[in-house]
Amino acid sequence: MARSKVTVIGGGNVGATCAHWIAAAELADVVLIDILEGPAKGKALDLLESMPVVRKDVNIVGGGDYAATANSDVIVVTAGVPRKKDPVTGQFPSRDDLVKTNQKIVGDVVKAAVQHSPNAIILVVANPLDAMCHVALHESGFPSQRVIGMAGALDTARYKAFIAQEVGLSVKDVHGLVLGGHGDEMVPLPRHTSVAGIPIRELISEERLQAIIERTRKGGGEIVGLIGVSAWYAPAASAVEMVESILKDQKRVIPSAVLLNGEFGYNGLYIGVPAVIGANGVEKVIEMELNDEEKAMLEKSANAVRAVVGVLGY
Ligand code: NAI
Ligand code: 2OP
Repeated sequence: MARSKVTVIGGGNVGATCAHWIAAAELADVVLIDILEGPAKGKALDLLESMPVVRKDVNIVGGGDYAATANSDVIVVTAGVPRKKDPVTGQFPSRDDLVKTNQKIVGDVVKAAVQHSPNAIILVVANPLDAMCHVALHESGFPSQRVIGMAGALDTARYKAFIAQEVGLSVKDVHGLVLGGHGDEMVPLPRHTSVAGIPIRELISEERLQAIIERTRKGGGEIVGLIGVSAWYAPAASAVEMVESILKDQKRVIPSAVLLNGEFGYNGLYIGVPAVIGANGVEKVIEMELNDEEKAMLEKSANAVRAVVGVLGY
């Protein structure tokens, strides 16, 4: 059986780390594309040279030529400008401030990549995430099942990490999910959070739970505040979790940014919802029951996404 092939566009922090996780798990051959051809080529070569050490049969190439990406199964789009602290003011822009710059970058790279891989599944990572999914959908002309956004996987991972730390138990036993757009209005769902099936409210005080929810919502900003640029290990691991579910047709239920067609009462909007991710991309949206409070939070988050999508001018 031929090996799977994944193109990662953007060989910066998130993209290079995606390539690393993919290679380490021996999921697929990797093509790392960047406008900065030398560094992409160099990172790919460095990673390739580590394969004999970790004993994985993965080919990794890098550069700027999209011809090398031909017939990819998955295209991961990380090309874009991340949030960076202004060295003078110490402030960093919101994800939404990046919209126009990244619209152009994401639009260009998607157009170039789909010419060579017309049957691929596109996994968008660039921010502002939900809006960039609209850009990738628009520019690729792909059906929406094959254009998915990674954010809920990361937000949920952060939420679970904080819960596991709080209760002092294994992350493996923490279950939960975060819906909504990838912004400060995202919607962690404590009613659906458990440790080995034990409802989280039986294990943590309401005050601590609310603090964890707030920390999750601001999780991206917490890392930017510490490092000066945005996170990459957990984002890349989360993207690769989705890549793996696609390549192995695992049909994992992963909170993902998906174009809704009436589900949860939304139409024509990308927003994070529980989705079955498999060989065909988004195979199903699971329309779980939400109570009035959760619906109101989702609506607030959807409104924040709509405001950014409105800037795109489609
Ligand atoms: P980075 O700056 O380290 O890497 C971005 C790379 O994109 C750079 O190497 C740059 O040269 C490249 N690039 C820019 N324009 C390009 C073009 N036209 N063609 C090819 N490559 C191009 O940034 P980082 O940290 O890797 O973040 C990438 C994106 O992912 C950002 O938009 C960031 O906000 C977003 N992000 C999204 C997350 C999510 O949960 N969805 C989580 C973390 C980051
Ligand atoms: C994050 O949540 C910046 O979206 C990125 O880390």
